[in-house]
Amino acid sequence: MPSHFIDGTEPGPFGVSDIALRALELRAGAAPVRRPGARLAAMFLNPSLRTRTSLEAACSVLGIHPIVLEPGRTSWALELREGAVMNGDAAEHVCDAVRVLSSYVDILAVRAFAGLVDRDVDQADPVIKAFTDYSPVPVVNLESARFHPLQGLADTATWMSRLGPDLQGQPITLTWAPHPKALPLAVPHQVLMSSALQGMHVTVAHPEGMDLDPAIVSRAENLADGAGGSVRITHNQEEGLRGARVVVAKSWSGFSGYGRRAEEAERRASLADWRITNRKLDLTDDGGFMHCLPVRRNIVVDDAVMDSHRSWVYEEAGLRLWTTTALLEGMLSEVPWNGR
Ligand code: CP
Repeated sequence: MPSHFIDGTEPGPFGVSDIALRALELRAGAAPVRRPGARLAAMFLNPSLRTRTSLEAACSVLGIHPIVLEPGRTSWALELREGAVMNGDAAEHVCDAVRVLSSYVDILAVRAFAGLVDRDVDQADPVIKAFTDYSPVPVVNLESARFHPLQGLADTATWMSRLGPDLQGQPITLTWAPHPKALPLAVPHQVLMSSALQGMHVTVAHPEGMDLDPAIVSRAENLADGAGGSVRITHNQEEGLRGARVVVAKSWSGFSGYGRRAEEAERRASLADWRITNRKLDLTDDGGFMHCLPVRRNIVVDDAVMDSHRSWVYEEAGLRLWTTTALLEGMLSEVPWNGR
């Protein structure tokens, strides 16, 4: 079985810690274990600034040759439906593309966001499923309908950089934030899973109706239980921010109202006061502000927060390079995760 990296928990808590700590070493100037001759193909079905650039830069650090494909633009448009009668625009089925690509490269990577129309389709994460079903080489998820594990690694490395390597018991708050558009749940799910995996005390603050997938909340509760942490949910943002050492803001669509766009847009329009301000961060325990980026300034968060000493967002984004480098370095080694 290839060692895929899909939800970010595959290496286990110690394996993730090791990758995050290795990333901090690499950032500080440690020599990478280079893999000249290795090849990676990355398929982007959605736009990216950080993920694409940091992946290509990480390949450069390690001597890996990256091949980036954009289906429908620089490669054939893909059919994603199993059993489809392919009489539409898509020229190639994903199962054929994956079988062929995996014969050329050592690692495959793919980005395919949630459609936010049909909850059952997004829950099945069909592109990731096709890649893992048909690829005999490891697959890295570059953000799928459900998870964004490379963001989770960079977030973990940022927490360790700021709070120290042992994150158990550190209070972190993931707060819903306003946004003009309905957004997927992959990033908040990832923040929840990654922080729970490290045994942090996680508070999720969101307006009623803007709930996360209960199956992922339950999984995070189990991860946190096993690692000495906890998960709690509140609908009161200010109460949720009190005492936090880390605040991660993100907008997302409510899981229970999936696909009801007009209703959700009306609800979102009434929630502008969930924006992150310096006054709200005063409630925390000197908490740092994080966001995966891109961010809508003065809607999600004030300029005064983004451009202040409280903002950890540029360290978080910068660590995307080093955590991806550390991950690929490990995936191309004899033992991808250290097995602890
Ligand atoms: N945070 C993140 O994944 O950024 P991009 O969408 O620009 O890759």
